[in-house]
Amino acid sequence: MSTNISSTAAVQQPERTPDPCIVVIFGASGDLTKRKLLPALYHLEQSGLLPKDFAVVGVARRPLEKSFAPDMKEGIISGGGVEKDEAKLDPFVGRIQYHAMNFDDAAGYDALKKVLADIDKKFGTKGNRLFYLATAPEYFSDIVKYLGDHGMAKPEVKDGEAKNWVRTIVEKPFGHDLESAKALNNEVNKVFSEDQIFRIDHYLGKETVQNILVFRFGNGIFENVWNRNYIDHVEITAAESIGIEGRGPFYETAGALRDVVQNHVMELLSFVAMEPPVSFEASAVRAEKVKVWKAIPPIHPADTVRGQYGPGTVDGKAVVGYRQEERVHPRSQTETYAALRLEIDNWRWAGVPFYIRAGKRLGKRVTEITIQFKLPPQMLFKDAQGKGAEGIQPNVLSMRIQPDEGITLQFGAKVPGPTMTISKVDMDFSYAEAFGKSSANGYERLLLDAMLGDATLFAHRDGVEATWSLITPILEAWAKDPINSLPNYAAGTWGPATADAMLKTDGRKWRKL
Ligand code: BG6
Repeated sequence: MSTNISSTAAVQQPERTPDPCIVVIFGASGDLTKRKLLPALYHLEQSGLLPKDFAVVGVARRPLEKSFAPDMKEGIISGGGVEKDEAKLDPFVGRIQYHAMNFDDAAGYDALKKVLADIDKKFGTKGNRLFYLATAPEYFSDIVKYLGDHGMAKPEVKDGEAKNWVRTIVEKPFGHDLESAKALNNEVNKVFSEDQIFRIDHYLGKETVQNILVFRFGNGIFENVWNRNYIDHVEITAAESIGIEGRGPFYETAGALRDVVQNHVMELLSFVAMEPPVSFEASAVRAEKVKVWKAIPPIHPADTVRGQYGPGTVDGKAVVGYRQEERVHPRSQTETYAALRLEIDNWRWAGVPFYIRAGKRLGKRVTEITIQFKLPPQMLFKDAQGKGAEGIQPNVLSMRIQPDEGITLQFGAKVPGPTMTISKVDMDFSYAEAFGKSSANGYERLLLDAMLGDATLFAHRDGVEATWSLITPILEAWAKDPINSLPNYAAGTWGPATADAMLKTDGRKWRKL
C-alpha cells in the first residue's frame, strides 16, 4: 500500500508555546537526563516549541557544576541526532545550569530557591517551574516534602489569582506494589494538588502509541469490528533483546512485571481496549482507561508465566545469564520475562483473551500489538491451500509500536492461476515511508504537554492504583511460590516453554515476530 500524507492533514490543536519556565531535574546526573530529557528538550527548541524565556537546572548530589552543561551538550548530539554546529545548540546549552545538593538537606532547597529566583531575573522565566523527579524512587517523597516545606510547590497568589504555575513530573516506578503506590500518592498529594502532578510513562509519548487512538477513533471503519463479535484474541508483546544493562540492584527489586507490564504494557492495553472518550480532554481519556483496568477480573496465577534468562546468544554474541549479571543474586528469583492471560469483563470484550508477554534478552527488540480476527463464518474456500499458499487464514492487524513503526493488515488473496488458491498478503503502512524518519524519543511530547499543563497523556492516581491492584496479587503469589526451574529460557530465544504451553491449552500460538 502506498501512503501519502494528505494536504488536509488534520491538526488537533494549533501549536502552542508554553509560558516562560524553568525545568528543574532532580537526579540529573543519571542516564535519563543526558540520553532522553535534554535531547527531547532540544528537539522542542529546534521545532520552535520552547518558550523564548527558558532554562534548565540539573540537580544532583555530585559537584558537577563545570561538566554538566558540556556533558548535556554531548548527550544532545549523540543521543538526539543533532549536528554539533547547529546554530541553536550553544545558546540552548547556555541556559543549562547545575545545582549540587543532597535531597534531604534543607539548606540545599533554600539555595535552590535562590538559584531559581536569580534565573527568573536573568532569563525572565516568571516563577513558572516544572520539577522533574528523575531520582531513584526512594527520594521522591523527601523531595516533594522539602519543596512543600520551602514554599516551592505552590504558585504565588495575588488578589486571589495565581501569578505563576508549579508542576511536577514523577518518573516511574510509581511505587512497587499497591500499598506503596497509594502511600506515594498520599505523600505527593499532601504537597501538590492532582492537577499539578504529571506521572510520566514514556510509552504514551511514542507516536505509535498515540496513533492507536487515532487509528481507532479517527477513522470510521475500524470501530465497527473492534469487539468480541469479530476479534478472536489480542496479543501484546514488549520484547527486548538487551539485558539489564548494569542495572542489577534496580532490576533485582523490579522484574519484568513491575518494570514494564504494570505501566507500559497496561497503558497499551488500555488504548487498545477503551471505549471512545467523549472528548480528548485529560479527564475523559483517563476515565475510560481506568474503566478498562477495573473491568479485568483478578488474574489467576495459573494464567501467569514467569521466566528468567540463562546464558545464550544475542546478535551472534555469547551473553551471560541473568544470575551471572553484575550485582545480581546467584539464586535470584527475579523474573526477566512475564506472560499473562487476562480478560476484560465488559460488553465489548467478554470472552476475548488478551495475551501479554514482556521480557529481556528475547529474540529481538519488538513491541507490537496483534489483533487476530475470527475466521469467516462459512469456509467457502476451504481447499484453497496449495504450494506455498496457506489457504484461508484469520485476518491479523499488527500495530508495530517499535522499531519499524507501522501498521499491517494481513488478508487472504487469490493466487493468480487456474486454480482457487489463497495466500496471505499484507497491506502495510510504514511511518518512516509515509512521514520520514524521526529522531524523537517520546519525551518531547510529554515534556511539552507538562509545560502546557495538559495531562491527557499522563497517569492519574486512580489509574496507577488500578493497575497495581491487578499486578500486586500476582507478585504476592509468585513471592510465596518460588520456582526451581529458573533460568528457564536461553538468552536470545522467545521465553520459557510454559508461555507457549499457556496459549496451546487455548488452541493458539504466539505470533512469530
Ligand atoms: C523502561 C524500563 O521503563 O522501559 C526498561 O525500565 C526498558 O527496563 C524500557 O528497557 C523500554 O523502553 P523502550 O522505549 O526502549 O521500549
